[in-house]
Amino acid sequence: MTVLGIETSCDETGLALYSAADGLLAHQLHSQVDTHALYGGVVPELASRDHIQRVLPLAQACLEEAGLQRGDLTGIAYTRGPGLAGALLVGASVARSLAWAMNCPVLGIHHMEAHLLAPMLEPDPPAFPFLALLVSGGHTMLVQVAAIGRYEVLGESVDDAAGEAFDKTAKLLGLPYPGGPQLEALARQGDPQRFRFPRPMTDRPGLDFSFSGLKTAVVNTVREAGTDAQTQADVARGFQDAVVETMAIKIRRALKHTGARHLVVAGGVGANQALRDRLRDVAEAEGAQVAYPRLAFCTDNGAMIAYAGHCRLAAGEQDRDDVDVRPRWPM
Ligand code: KG4
Ligand code: ZN
Repeated sequence: MTVLGIETSCDETGLALYSAADGLLAHQLHSQVDTHALYGGVVPELASRDHIQRVLPLAQACLEEAGLQRGDLTGIAYTRGPGLAGALLVGASVARSLAWAMNCPVLGIHHMEAHLLAPMLEPDPPAFPFLALLVSGGHTMLVQVAAIGRYEVLGESVDDAAGEAFDKTAKLLGLPYPGGPQLEALARQGDPQRFRFPRPMTDRPGLDFSFSGLKTAVVNTVREAGTDAQTQADVARGFQDAVVETMAIKIRRALKHTGARHLVVAGGVGANQALRDRLRDVAEAEGAQVAYPRLAFCTDNGAMIAYAGHCRLAAGEQDRDDVDVRPRWPM
């Protein structure tokens, strides 16, 4: 089975080909960062329009990269949700039209499921069952994964997602969109001793997260301490340390609670090196192995959709005849 994966849930157009026999055959990505940077955040209408222009040329580029013809495709997968409705509709419509023209099965995929399966594309993939920390721009979730499709959400953010907190804090510090990677770079120059921000919800039992109070603490600090370059870097460092330490505390708790031997960290914030290093230490101390997707597959991409699609299509699942996307879709 050779599956074309199409990701258009937000501001990246990602296309990829995955085959059961040969693994990942091709992947192509167009990021809309430059388009949205002018506005300081994603503009949904612009996102949809750009996806429309990019999706077919990128599909063609995947076929060329893999040395395949359109007729070689035996399944198509697309992101059905969660995400921006208009952006999702582009991927869904293209996927379903191609599948109709080629008479092959098509399936809508849950974007967060695809994120948590992304480490399966790496050498030495994690074994089921595992614990997954999903940290993206829209979600922060701790999920117990028994097998594909068997997920139990153990904890999630009660307010902002981790990536959202990074982006909002970066904006406060005057960094361009998208803020996460910029804030990480700035934090490298920061003094870890200067500011100590709260570790929200770590002083009570449970595995939920909250990041809005942390953002308020940053606002107040910036107001008092000013915005000279070193203070900016020190705030960035203090903020990142607070997020990383909060995650470390919750992950340690979750590993103890579940006895999981494998931890997966996925989603855009999973590209943060400080987080990766800290969680590797925590997992090892608890006798667990941690698996990360490569950096390019932490953020949105078509490869994870092609892979998740392949797993489910190979198990016989496929969409019925209607096109419906699910902008809000619980896991
Ligand atoms: O998974 P993703 O690409 O899109 C969603 O599904 O939301 O995640 C994007 C989020 C953004 O909030 C971005 O700022 C954050 O991931 N991000 C990072 C880093 N790279 C991306 N946050 C912190 N450090 C990074 N290196
Ligand atoms: Zn994502």
